[in-house]
Formats: sequence, C-alpha cells, structure tokens
Amino acid sequence: MDPREDEKRAAAQAAAMLVPQGATVGLGSGTTVAHFLAALARRNLELTCVATSPTTEERARTLGLSVQPFDRLDRLDIAVDGADQVDSDLWLVKGGGAAHTREKVVAASAERFVVIVSSDKVVDRVGPPVPLEVLRFGLAATLRRLGELGEAVVREGVPVTADGNVLVDFLGKVGDPNELASVLAAVPGVVEHGLFPPSLVSEVLVGLADGSVERLLPG
Ligand code: 5RP
Repeated sequence: MDPREDEKRAAAQAAAMLVPQGATVGLGSGTTVAHFLAALARRNLELTCVATSPTTEERARTLGLSVQPFDRLDRLDIAVDGADQVDSDLWLVKGGGAAHTREKVVAASAERFVVIVSSDKVVDRVGPPVPLEVLRFGLAATLRRLGELGEAVVREGVPVTADGNVLVDFLGKVGDPNELASVLAAVPGVVEHGLFPPSLVSEVLVGLADGSVERLLPG
C-alpha cells in the first residue's frame, strides 16, 4: 500500500469532522476526496451535497450521500477538495483530475474551503504544469496564443472535461502566480485555469506519515 494513502486518509478524516449536521457541502474530486467521502458517509449526518465531477457524484451516491445538482443553491457552508500543489502562501494548483473549473466554482461558493493533501503536495513555490480548461472552438488559435506565454499541450487520455471542453497543461514558467493567473484568465478560449489564490482557501489539512494532521492557515 502506498504510504501516501495513509496521509490522504488522515487529512480526509480530519476534514470530515469539520462538517456540521445539516450543512450544504461541496465535494471535490480525486483520490484524497475519495477518502473524505467515505469518512463523511460514516458520520451519517443529514447533508445536502454538490459534486464537482461525475466520478465524485457516483461515489458519493453509492455511499449514501445526498447529491443535488448545483444550479439552485447559491452558496455552500463548506467545501472540501484535494490539490496537486500547495505553496507556502497557500496558492494551489488544481486540475490534475481535469475538474478544476467546477472545483473553483464550488470553492468560491463555500463559506469555508478546506483543502486536504498528503505531505508530498506541499511545495515552496507552485510550478508547472498548470491545468487549463479550454474551449474546443478555436482550440488551435488558443493554443497558439498560449504558446506565446510558454509551452502548452493538450493532455493525453482526457478527451473532454465534464463540460465538454479540452484539458490543456501549461508548462511555462509560473513566476508570480497572481500575475500568471491574470494573464491566463485574459486569454480568450481559456474557460478557467488551475491556479487557486490563497483568498479562496480557509485552511489546508496536510496528512503526515505518523497519522497526524498539520493545519496550514492563510497568512
Ligand atoms: C482534480 C483535482 C484534485 O483535487 C487534485 O488533482 C488532487 O487529486 P488527488 O487527491 O487524487 O491527488 O484538482 O481536478
């Protein structure tokens, strides 16, 4: 068994304990979130959940969690999600699972956004790849424009995102994530980038090898 799974499980279990009875809950995506879903379901709370990906939705329902479409609720009490990278300022890179657009909508709608990671996700500074969700319409032109900023490649094995768009990995230098986030957001055809600012993050729970959990709070 991968020792990282124990770290993910520890962070996920700690996050599940933060969810209050009756809450509206945003469910992220990925292998760390899979542990969170199991831990949350074990608590047998009455919850209304929204899911950031079809995989999460199916897993959550199988575990007995109530999942609603995210079109009527205009805010959530709490959202819990994983990340690919977390830096010392709590900038995140997300989108390893091609779900970062929905994940950002859910995180931004939540009163409290809790990030759960294994210790290998903690880095000094975020770096490439930065996932981008890109419209299929005009794809070659968008890729050319992105190419002027740095290398950008269509991710193999991910034909389309849940919203029918293309997943592109930006491999250029990140430098100041705030600046790159603005530049990427301004490229027509880029639906959303995977840089999540610290202002979105309430806390990061890092699972450690000894089973304990470190809590990182934004500056
Ligand atoms: C999906 C994500 C995931 O949260 C991220 O890739 C981490 O996944 P895992 O928990 O499997 O390492 O951003 O788009």
